[in-house]
Amino acid sequence: MSFVMKCLGINENGNLTIGGCDLKEIAEAYGTPAYIMDEDEIRANCRIYTQSIKDHYDGKGLVLYASKALSCKYIYQIMKEEGMGVDVVSGGELYTALEAGFPNEKIYFHGNNKTVEEIAFALSKGVGRIVVDNEQELSLINQLSGESGITTKVLFRIKPGIDAHTHSFIQTGQIDSKFGVALENGEAEQIMKTAHQMPNIEVVGVHCHIGSQIFELAPFELAAEKMMNFIADMNDRYRIHIHELNLGGGFGIKYVEEDRPVNYDRYIQAVSRVVKRVAKERNIALPSILMEPGRSIVAPAGLTLYTVGTIKNIPGIRTYVSVDGGMGDNPRHIMYGSEYEAALVENPNGEKTNTVTVAGKCCESGDILIRDIKLPEIHSGDLLAVLSTGAYNYSMASNYNRIPRPPVVMIQNGLPKLAVKRETYEDLVRNDV
Ligand code: LLP
Repeated sequence: MSFVMKCLGINENGNLTIGGCDLKEIAEAYGTPAYIMDEDEIRANCRIYTQSIKDHYDGKGLVLYASKALSCKYIYQIMKEEGMGVDVVSGGELYTALEAGFPNEKIYFHGNNKTVEEIAFALSKGVGRIVVDNEQELSLINQLSGESGITTKVLFRIKPGIDAHTHSFIQTGQIDSKFGVALENGEAEQIMKTAHQMPNIEVVGVHCHIGSQIFELAPFELAAEKMMNFIADMNDRYRIHIHELNLGGGFGIKYVEEDRPVNYDRYIQAVSRVVKRVAKERNIALPSILMEPGRSIVAPAGLTLYTVGTIKNIPGIRTYVSVDGGMGDNPRHIMYGSEYEAALVENPNGEKTNTVTVAGKCCESGDILIRDIKLPEIHSGDLLAVLSTGAYNYSMASNYNRIPRPPVVMIQNGLPKLAVKRETYEDLVRNDV
């Protein structure tokens, strides 16, 4: 039997394993609900990216882990050891990275509404780059940099006019986004000219991010083409030399059987061909390539372990199987209608005879994790693993209904290690006055 996650298996007891560890034993040791992640798989995913930069780009580039996908000290330590950079989007992510000892110069600070305090914090810590979203922010960075007597290296977030979130992607209509400056109406050109004149700003690069959970190569190739031509235009028109091209994240992963992700390496190969071709055509130097995968690094390495509680069979309608977590630890179904696969820890191979809806325990009828999934016969007390939850679950978790957030347990070399402790009731009232 194969699962959507590569790091799963079945052991001699017939139990589901992750990274070789028996999930029943993990549940006994850490309780449920709990996020369980295969650290070896996370590291292997990082290496696919870092290796592909070597293979297809002569090593000229840096892979930034988009830490919004999963942010905690442990993950930044892994990224440091793997030679990755990181993308942070808030003072909180930046603080966590620094607390983990992540090297400041490899931190790229994003965000469409960075506050004065966040920018001042980032500058005081010497982050590697700020990815500037708009003119207002640019003036602020210039001013604050001047006050501190420093020059700040920046990239600009550009909307290349590609919407990859349609069935087959389209090339226009992306101007209506809160992120960045548009190519098509001259905003991008304008901000480059303004920045180039500023005394405390060093323009080093441009950035684009066309979307998330994308399965096609073509939108990435098109984005690379547009960005490279923009770099060449800036060089030809104003002698602005841009040497970093950050092509964002967005590579799709397998959540359900029907998903057909492309090997990550192929994205980079395809994009590097375009970058090299345009560089030659337009006679500009090859920029250093950056990319920002988040989901594809951590999502396929994680699952959420739950215990089944109430089972409610509404004859002729549906069967609700409620678990001891829900939208608080995984809001993706209620927010996006996301789909997941699941497996019974003690009967992962059983014949899938029952169609059930896996619900959470929150006081909200939309608190569903999986609608209409086929599973083997299921009983109260069973352990259920919801698969591919390593990204945008813990990082998007809330305390709705005052439910404490689950722990994050990493499996390294077959052994579990706690990365984030389970919240307690005391944690819940810590800031209440
Ligand atoms: N870079 C930028 C500038 C981004 O905005 C994002 C994601 C990434 C990189 C990473 O993209 P990834 O490789 O993870 O697709 N909460 C949503 C996903 C939001 C993604 C936002 N930006 C979800 O749960 O699906």
